[in-house]
Amino acid sequence: MRGCSPLSSPWTAYLCLLSVLCLLFTPAVMVKENDFKKCHQSGFCKRNRAYADHAVAQGASWQPPYAITSDKVAFKDGQFQANILKTTDDQGAVVNLPVTVSFLKSGAARVTVDEERRQMKDIQLRHESGARRERYNEAEKWAVVGGLALDKDAKVAHESKTGMTIKYGPDLSFEAEIKYEPFAVDFKRDGTSHIKLNDRGLFNMEHWRPKTEKAEPEKKEGEEGDKQEEPKEVPAHLDESTWWDESFGGNTDTKPRGPESVALDISFQGYEHVYGIPEHAGPLSLKETRGGEGNYNEPYRLYNADVFEYILDSPMTLYGAIPFMQAQRKDSTVGVFWLNGAETWIDIVKAKESKNPLALGLSTKTNTHTHWISESGLLDVFVFLGPTPQEISKTYGELTGTTAMPAEFALGYHQCRWNYVSDDDVKEVDRKMDKFKIPYDVIWLDIEYTDEKKYFTWDPNMFKDPISMGKQLDEHGRKLVAIIDPHIKNTGSYPVIDELKSKGLAVKNNKGSYFDGWCWPGSSMWIDAFNPTAIKWWTSLFKYDSFKGTMENTYIWNDMNEPSVFNGPEVTMPKDNLHHDDWEHRDLHNINGMTFHNATFEALLSRKKGELRRPFVLTRSFYAGSQRLGAMWTGDNQASWEHLGAAVPMILAQGIAGFPFAGADVGGFFGNPELELQSRWYQAGAFYPFFRGHAHIDARRREPYMAAEPYRSIITSALRLRYSLMPSWYTAFFHANQDGSPIIRPMYWTHPGEESGFAVDDQFFVGSTGLLVKPVVEKEKVAADVYIPDDQVYYDYFTYNKLNTHKGKMVTVDAPLESIPILMRGGHIFPRRDTPRRSTQLMKYDDYTLVVVLGKDLAAKGELYVDDGDSFDYQKGQYIHRTFEFHQLLLTSSPASTHEGKALREGDWMKRFHDVSFDKIIIVGAPSSWEGKTEVEVKSEGQTHKVPLQFTKAEGGRAAFATVGRLGARVGADWEIDFA
Ligand code: NOJ
Repeated sequence: MRGCSPLSSPWTAYLCLLSVLCLLFTPAVMVKENDFKKCHQSGFCKRNRAYADHAVAQGASWQPPYAITSDKVAFKDGQFQANILKTTDDQGAVVNLPVTVSFLKSGAARVTVDEERRQMKDIQLRHESGARRERYNEAEKWAVVGGLALDKDAKVAHESKTGMTIKYGPDLSFEAEIKYEPFAVDFKRDGTSHIKLNDRGLFNMEHWRPKTEKAEPEKKEGEEGDKQEEPKEVPAHLDESTWWDESFGGNTDTKPRGPESVALDISFQGYEHVYGIPEHAGPLSLKETRGGEGNYNEPYRLYNADVFEYILDSPMTLYGAIPFMQAQRKDSTVGVFWLNGAETWIDIVKAKESKNPLALGLSTKTNTHTHWISESGLLDVFVFLGPTPQEISKTYGELTGTTAMPAEFALGYHQCRWNYVSDDDVKEVDRKMDKFKIPYDVIWLDIEYTDEKKYFTWDPNMFKDPISMGKQLDEHGRKLVAIIDPHIKNTGSYPVIDELKSKGLAVKNNKGSYFDGWCWPGSSMWIDAFNPTAIKWWTSLFKYDSFKGTMENTYIWNDMNEPSVFNGPEVTMPKDNLHHDDWEHRDLHNINGMTFHNATFEALLSRKKGELRRPFVLTRSFYAGSQRLGAMWTGDNQASWEHLGAAVPMILAQGIAGFPFAGADVGGFFGNPELELQSRWYQAGAFYPFFRGHAHIDARRREPYMAAEPYRSIITSALRLRYSLMPSWYTAFFHANQDGSPIIRPMYWTHPGEESGFAVDDQFFVGSTGLLVKPVVEKEKVAADVYIPDDQVYYDYFTYNKLNTHKGKMVTVDAPLESIPILMRGGHIFPRRDTPRRSTQLMKYDDYTLVVVLGKDLAAKGELYVDDGDSFDYQKGQYIHRTFEFHQLLLTSSPASTHEGKALREGDWMKRFHDVSFDKIIIVGAPSSWEGKTEVEVKSEGQTHKVPLQFTKAEGGRAAFATVGRLGARVGADWEIDFA
């Protein structure tokens, strides 16, 4: 993002200069769509789309040129291996493509195809390139952390000359039917086909070939120039014009290895909805991409890019890429993970198919056909057969890792802007938040805190005493986040650039010299975080005695790590740049951001010997696996109602793609939100897993206390609500950490049997609390229509009004500006802390409230997970995880199953936490028979005592509820309350 304005401050001159540079090197405002490629401008995308068109046009006569040769087929220990022979027009070329299908213990299957000739490095590179010759095979190294154990029980169920069927998975209920000619795989569950690979014959691997210079067509004697034979029109899929080099926006990619794309069609049989593949600003249920009313005309693109002021409802690429897709049909979820780090495009078409041709359309099903196209690398695809969304999230989590258990403060509110101009400014904001009793946990520093954009330095005039700033924050239990970007200013007397160069740790250009590009500091070089030595060096820069002015409560923000290069093609690095081990940038572009995030994460883990704090690092760019390292946000949005509306579907998509610690800039990055919009944004943001207010340098100051009344109070209430629900948020993060589940959950994920909710993406459940939230995202709206996915009973969170709900229908709830539409689903119990405080740290030893929302059957269940919120002691059993159950008028707290087998020797935190108790229990939907009841009996730790109960009977629309006070039952102990 760019855009500068003079400020009346000491850095006016500098910023003016910057703004001139901005004009010179960067587009002014609004995304320029034309700065980013469309499929037809990306040679390999255009060729593969044309290949698909060609195949479709041929219909039944299309003969895909890839076949398994039966001579090399083998199946052993859960792995099928064979050779695919590609039939080509190249004279004499024999193209062997070794294929492996691995059946994994996790229930997933993996199909990998490589190219023999490139494997053997038997290719010639052009332009004296020093690049590697193989197809990139290290995406796994960065993305995958487990779940690869082979399922040795998988067995051949059928074998013939034309194919092999392998049974695997739970009770051998999964099946892979591998067909040899053409090569195709049909994945079945319980005998029914769910996912088909190459069913439409679009599998394509552009094999290596030498460049042959084409001779100019000879003139025949006597022929006039204009009478020469017209060159034959080459079909688009055979168009060689972009094989050997390719230009876009004034940049030429030298492509030393020639064409090498890899593409495959993946069909979801009977599935109408597909989700995932973030990051795009569009609906959660992905649209078709081959035109038609309401559809896109372009494939979804994954090519991490610094797209500022991005457009909405678009398949255009954004900052991060997770090539993981879930497909949904009634009561069944399946998924695929396309493990490839190169530029990728995904076409989606949905085709209605009649199950019974005589049924005249009465019995149709929809198949979703997807077509995945990557520029280089292996074909490497994981197939998940579910059948539930929970299983898909879990299996994918085993593979790529789950959300790191966050430091608790990271779930609090983050106050950011570009920029807090001095250490005094930071202290002042901190004081004002306190003065107005507005809770927050973290204040952020954007790039201007540095000395001329030299990271690891401080502006000597404006940040004279960063330690005193850090200390003030620490006194209030608060943290500081400072930005550190991957571009290193290429200037004299800056040790960081000197070391980067002398140690040889920067990304290189196609000539093998250090790549120099333009970013915030002007001329810059980029740390190559693929290099283990670079990671080690990066780690050294964060030590407290190296990055002076930082302390234990300083954390880090990684921005611009797509990487953003202002003068590069599509605002990023040339694809023929070279990384560690001579891999081309083209091969790993989408993984680049994650490697930088990883280096910073590692750095925070080892700032000081013996200090073991959970790191917090926010990243803009990400890939599959980034969830292990911190949080992400959706980049440079705008202060508009439309962008407010776009945020929830984007955050939901992150959650189902395994990276749920996500948020959007609250208030909108560009522009100045009107106070109504700002208030609504805080109300929505209070339910983003990552909750940060942020604003562009040109935007007016908008810290919550600046808002006039009643907006200030409205915003403060939203913030307090977030803080009171913190125990529930933390428990939801714990689940994400355990099993990869989303933190905020879309309807299809919680109710996979309810088709009417499959496209709903503007509301969500918070973890397993049963809280159903629908943020208001329209101006002057004072009511909200909430979709109800089931037959349970629903109550308004604030009023306890019982809503008149019907499964699959909308219910309208009042939503005046001061209120957030939140429903409580019957059957759940969720924890809160009701004493308002200034930060999460100050709430650490507060007592809890339990809210029991009785279901139709007068039963409810819930959980609380709590640990010290800071160290890794939870890995040694220093945590409390309770299950609550209300059943037959008995409410119990008992240890959750994760405690089994744990030795619970109390460490420091557990000792201090020992006496923390449940103070209050609220039972919503209490039976009318409780009228007149004034006390209940609590049994805990061998004691029985009576505590007061206050019953409030139903009135008007409001349900009856009861409050039990002064419970005094310890959080860490078993207890029960008898309501009979
Ligand atoms: C771009 C980021 O998206 C934005 O949040 C940040 O303020 C600017 N870079 C300046 O660092």
